Amino acid sequence: MSHPAPDLQRIVTEIADEMAQRTDRGDVASYIPELAGIDPNQFGLVVIDADGQVAAGGDADVPFSIQSISKVFTLTLALGMVGDRLWKHVGREPSGNPFNSIVQLERERGVPRNPFINAGAIAVTDVILSGHQPREAIGEILRFMQFLSGDSSIVIDETVAASEKRTGFRNTALANYMKSFGVVENPVDFTLGVYFHHCAIAMSCRQLAMATRYLAYSGRNPSTGLSVVSSERARRINALMLMCGHYDGSGEFAYRVGLPGKSGVGGGIIAVAPGKASIAVWAPGLDKHGNSHLGRIALEALTKRLGWSIF
Ligand code: DON
Repeated sequence: MSHPAPDLQRIVTEIADEMAQRTDRGDVASYIPELAGIDPNQFGLVVIDADGQVAAGGDADVPFSIQSISKVFTLTLALGMVGDRLWKHVGREPSGNPFNSIVQLERERGVPRNPFINAGAIAVTDVILSGHQPREAIGEILRFMQFLSGDSSIVIDETVAASEKRTGFRNTALANYMKSFGVVENPVDFTLGVYFHHCAIAMSCRQLAMATRYLAYSGRNPSTGLSVVSSERARRINALMLMCGHYDGSGEFAYRVGLPGKSGVGGGIIAVAPGKASIAVWAPGLDKHGNSHLGRIALEALTKRLGWSIF
């Protein structure tokens, strides 16, 4: 078998160089004050192949706020805790609406469309919290990220969590609205506290690409042999990422990149090439849907050059 690693590193370096030259960088998220000051000129890309070879380019080791990317991992944890009972609290359909929209909740009796829009992720966090203190639930999520990436140095950026708590009026509205339907069961402040903290986990592209490996290899980390979830569950999480991972930009992402992926307003995106690679990219400037502008363009370039679209 020929080894793909040297080519992969060349392609990743080329893409990082191309992205560094671009002037169309999108706008950094400003509704979370702590994220508004991030330098938009940063760019990182990491691809880890089936043999565990790491190809890294640009600011691959700079930690950033993972924000909604955390929702993939809280979904994985919640499914591990309650299995298919989770689907009483949240649906599995694309919303076609912005990530912070409230409109569907009234018509659909407080059950959010999917686990990746804010309302859905808050409902998932509420399930993880049940029977625990907020501090324990936050610790559980953080330790899961450390375990998946094999890196115990990962921390939560408390300043970002506090910044979001101070200004999270919409999330507070969503949580209260779901509470009125009984979809959120714990005290709203507790659930939101855990949610803001897992969104504020800081990780680099290298750490995120490591943490995402189980989704690329049927639920197993191929290097350690450790199974995280069943292959069926990994397939289903990937299906949800493909359909809902970029909110009302999910169709465009599937059309252009052709991989399951999940974005965050910190400018990160994780993506999965099943059986081939796990990928993390970071460029803080966002498009109009709140997804990384250059991150998406870089992933499109990567999958085109490697023929990695799943379609
Ligand atoms: O709740 C929020 O608005 C943020 N903590 C997360 C939103 C987010 O990352 C949307 N993704 N593109």
